[in-house]
Amino acid sequence: MKNYVLTPGPVPVPEFVMLEMAKPIIHHRTEEFEEIFHNATEGLKKVFMTKEEVLILASSGTGAMDASICNTLSKGDKALVVNGGKFGERWLKICSAYGVETEELKVEWGKAVSSDEIKNTLDNNPDIKAVLVQASETSTGVEHPIESIAKITRNRDDVLLIVDGITAVGAFPVEFDKWGIDILIGGSQKAFMMPPGLSFIVLSQKAWAFAEKSDLPKFYLDLKQAHKNSLKRTSPWTPAVTLVIGLNAVLKHFDEIGLDALYKRHSIMSEATTTGFEAIGLTNFAKGCTSTALSVIKVPEEIDAGKIVKGLKNQYGIIVAGGQDQAKGKIFRVTHMGYVDKADIIAVIAGVESILSDLQYNFTKGIGVSTANTILNQL
Ligand SMILES: Cc1ncc(COP(=O)(O)O)c(C=O)c1O
Repeated sequence: MKNYVLTPGPVPVPEFVMLEMAKPIIHHRTEEFEEIFHNATEGLKKVFMTKEEVLILASSGTGAMDASICNTLSKGDKALVVNGGKFGERWLKICSAYGVETEELKVEWGKAVSSDEIKNTLDNNPDIKAVLVQASETSTGVEHPIESIAKITRNRDDVLLIVDGITAVGAFPVEFDKWGIDILIGGSQKAFMMPPGLSFIVLSQKAWAFAEKSDLPKFYLDLKQAHKNSLKRTSPWTPAVTLVIGLNAVLKHFDEIGLDALYKRHSIMSEATTTGFEAIGLTNFAKGCTSTALSVIKVPEEIDAGKIVKGLKNQYGIIVAGGQDQAKGKIFRVTHMGYVDKADIIAVIAGVESILSDLQYNFTKGIGVSTANTILNQL
C-alpha cells in the first residue's frame, strides 16, 4: 500500500528536493558549500520578511525554541507564556528547565489569545521580560494574533516578543521587521517541505541587546557564535550539509513561484478542507482563528476520532495526526504544508467519508468531496 504522510510535520518532500539531497556529500569548509549556505540564508530572509540574519541550526524546531530562551533571558527573569495547546506547554517546560519564572496565560484549546489580555498582563507585571507565543499552535490549528501582540510589545524596550512560527513561517505571512517581532522561529519539516533536522531563528536588534546580558548556560546553541559564523557564510559546528543543500533548492523554488502564491495555496487548501468537512457535519476546531498551515477537524461526540485516524491508515495508507491530551479522540489534524495538493485533500475527505459511513454516521455521501473540490479548483 502506498503511504500518504499528511501529518502537520513531517510533511511530504518533493522529488526535486530529494534528488538534490541524494547528490554526493561535499565538505562544509569549502567555497562551494559557503555559497550554498549564504544563498540559503539570503533566501530565508525573504521568507522571514527581514533584513536581519536568519540563523540555520542543526536541530529540530525545539532546539531553536530552547536557543531563544537561553540566549536572551537570565536566571530568575519572568516570561509571559501563552498556553493554548501542546506547544504553548513546551514554552513552560523550557522556561522551567532554565529557571525562568513564568506567568501563564491559559487559552481554551481551539481559541486564540486576546491581545488585550496580553496588554493587561504586561501592565500588571512590569517585571515580565518576554512574551512567548505560537503563531500557529499545531495541536489545535489556531493562529494567534501576532501582529496585534507585536503592537503591544514593540514599544516596550524591556519586553521581547518571541514567536514560535514553526508551522507558520512559509505557510502564511509573519512579517518580522514590519510588525516588530523580536524572535521568530521556523522548522524544516513544515512549510519548508523538507525532512526534519533544521531550525531557523532570527533576532531583532532588541533581542541581540538582551543576548548581551543573558546569563543562562549555552554552548551548542550559542546564537552569538552562530551569528558571527553566519556572516562569514558558515556555521560554528558541522552543519547539516545535505539538508542545507535541500533547503537551498526549496528556497529557489519559493522564489520562482513567489511567496504570495505559496500563501494562497495554503489558504485555498485550508478553506477547501475545513468547508468540505463542515459539509459532512464535522467542525473546524479553530473556527474564526484558523491557521492555514493545517486543518484541525472536530468529530461529533458519538464518534471516536481515533477510529478515523486508524481507519485512514489501515484502509488507505493515509497518515494524519490525532489529538493530544484533552483533544485525544475528539479531533484529527491534516497538513496543508509540504508537497501536498488537490488529490491529497480529496483522498483524505473521501477516506473519512467512507469510514464515517461504516460507523453509521448520517450524512449525504460525497458532499464533503464535492464541496472541497469546488474550492480546490482555484488551485
Ligand atoms: C508549533 C510547533 N512548535 C514546536 C514544535 C516542535 O518542533 P520539533 O518537533 O521540530 O522540535 C512543533 C512541531 O510539531 C510545532 O508544530
